[in-house]
Amino acid sequence: MIVSSVLCRYGHSPASKGRVTVFARVRFLPRAVPLDRQETKMTRRRQIYEGKAKILYEGPEPGTIIQYFKDDATAFNAQKKGTISGKGVLNNRISEHVFTMLGLIGIPTHFIRRLNMREQLVRQVEIIPIEVVVRNVAAGSIAKRFGIEEGTMLPRTIIEYYYKDDSLNDPLVSDEHIAAFGWASQDEMHDIADMAIRVNDFMAGMFAGVGIRLVDFKLEFGRLFDGDFARVILADEISPDGCRLWDMKTGDKLDKDRFRRDLGGEVEAYQEVARRLGLLTEEESAVLDLDEHRKARGKTPATVPTEAAPDTKPPAI
Ligand code: TMP
Repeated sequence: MIVSSVLCRYGHSPASKGRVTVFARVRFLPRAVPLDRQETKMTRRRQIYEGKAKILYEGPEPGTIIQYFKDDATAFNAQKKGTISGKGVLNNRISEHVFTMLGLIGIPTHFIRRLNMREQLVRQVEIIPIEVVVRNVAAGSIAKRFGIEEGTMLPRTIIEYYYKDDSLNDPLVSDEHIAAFGWASQDEMHDIADMAIRVNDFMAGMFAGVGIRLVDFKLEFGRLFDGDFARVILADEISPDGCRLWDMKTGDKLDKDRFRRDLGGEVEAYQEVARRLGLLTEEESAVLDLDEHRKARGKTPATVPTEAAPDTKPPAI
């Protein structure tokens, strides 16, 4: 498993040894302006970190960060690299939608609001160095590890943890390792498992409603500090980059496996997910239909549609 987002820390801790440590110094604005009324155009800003699929910039207020979604795609611990033109725009929209919906059902998340086509404002958290993978159907590494045919329903939902460390190739770890090495406390792991199941229940239903099977997905969590008190909230992104999404009728893959497995049609698959979730206007969908038509005739598809940023309020957490 691969580290896809930054570890943001305010200072040294024994647990940060050997991993990327970013000191996210924050600039103070002369006057505090409510987040939902801030000017989103920022002329000068500091880059905090560049990951494989995102860049993080200092946000406009202390405790905020801007996530910029790139078109870059990597797989197999960045051994395979490429660009999926328009992916960043689609992932920004899809992740905004999913995080907003999860916020509405009471899952605390880092998401504040989308700023523009490729950027969203999020709360700054200390990323817990665990990738949480939730699986409903055997695919990918679990199918390989246990010799299960891809597509086999698992007898129950399985949660796995991977330690985020590129140099170790993100090894699979158990609760015991997490507790023993102090990557997260028992209470935090309890909250994480609880939220992962709730996210799975919600997302499986949401995708089933638009004819998509939620096979598996990866989540990341972070600590939000309030004085000495820290609470765990959902962080990073939820998009076809970190999910397996199969069309229920055809079995077509609508996710990053198209890139991992050289299947082609990556951006069309991501667009299809966005379209089914109702995130593309009728006009934009018409462009996509035209793309399908052009593709069928062997022509290259048009680029991803553009749109303006909505004025969503930050969810209360
Ligand atoms: P896996 O079957 O390769 O372990 O992947 C399980 C899920 O986690 C799949 O939906 C893709 C996602 N994932 C990531 O988001 N990042 C990663 O680095 C890997 C390996 C998988």
